[in-house]
Amino acid sequence: MSVLPLTIMTHPLPPEWITSLNGRVRLVVGPSDFAGIAPHLAENLEETEAILCLLTDTINLEIISKAPRLRVVSNMAVGVDNVDMAACTNRRIPVGNTPDILTDATADMTMALLLSAARRLPEASADARDGLWRLWAPAGWLGADLRGATLGIIGLGKIGKAVAERAIGFGIKVIYTDLQPHKGIDAEFVSFNTLISQSDFISIHTPLNESTRGLIGENALRKMKPTSILVNAARGSIVDTSALVKALREHWIAGAALDVTDPEPLPTDNPLFDMPNCLIVPHIGSATRNTRRRMAEMACENILAGLEGKNLPYCANPEIYQK
Ligand code: DGY
Repeated sequence: MSVLPLTIMTHPLPPEWITSLNGRVRLVVGPSDFAGIAPHLAENLEETEAILCLLTDTINLEIISKAPRLRVVSNMAVGVDNVDMAACTNRRIPVGNTPDILTDATADMTMALLLSAARRLPEASADARDGLWRLWAPAGWLGADLRGATLGIIGLGKIGKAVAERAIGFGIKVIYTDLQPHKGIDAEFVSFNTLISQSDFISIHTPLNESTRGLIGENALRKMKPTSILVNAARGSIVDTSALVKALREHWIAGAALDVTDPEPLPTDNPLFDMPNCLIVPHIGSATRNTRRRMAEMACENILAGLEGKNLPYCANPEIYQK
């Protein structure tokens, strides 16, 4: 009887999302509260042929080197900044991801963050609960207008474009920065400095890499309008957390709405949690029932293809398939 390929799944997933793995792999599953490969799972690396991981798991050279039989890494996320891509590519290990499926959910979440911050929903909701809602207040909880405002999008990839389309529907003017201009979208390509200084809202949609890490630091935050709002649904480390604390505390900017933070999860004693002008949610951009389920299914499709020696259907390093 042949032995099924050992697959590390770093965290539990709902069984109905991963049925395609049943009878096809020998699964060892990590705990839900440990970021990375838990020590008891690491003992299996020597035999491991596939890893199904989450964006909070660092899959580095050390782990990859301890897994000589590894044939596929499948990340249940579109971003692969947690995986040492060079190390995988050098060993011709395909790295799977879950593109496209989360574009709409993440763009919707971005608009939810933008709207909530613009109209100060967290403050207004807390005040209503705390008994501060007395008479209708003509000058209470005033927020920003959307029609005619300018949204600066950093990174006009699929999610950035989906956000632009939604924003245009609200009568917002969209400007953007990217590696190059894009055609077919009613948005203006501008320099980073122009975007920073002219936007009423700035939304980040670029991958995390060495050129975007800390991109929104003290320098950029000081150049933003004092009325502006920063939205981040990409990766926390693109924003310098301590600079953001200073910017919000000293009112260099009006507010921030964050689906992602650095570090993640953000410790509850982080000063950002004490700021009424900062809205923080726990990385839920893709968290709709259909999207998360499909992401898990895609991650399983990648695992099975990798183990069968087929090209991954969703591959973040397709160059490994070139001769
Ligand atoms: C991803 O897939 O990279 C997203 O951050 C998940 O929400």
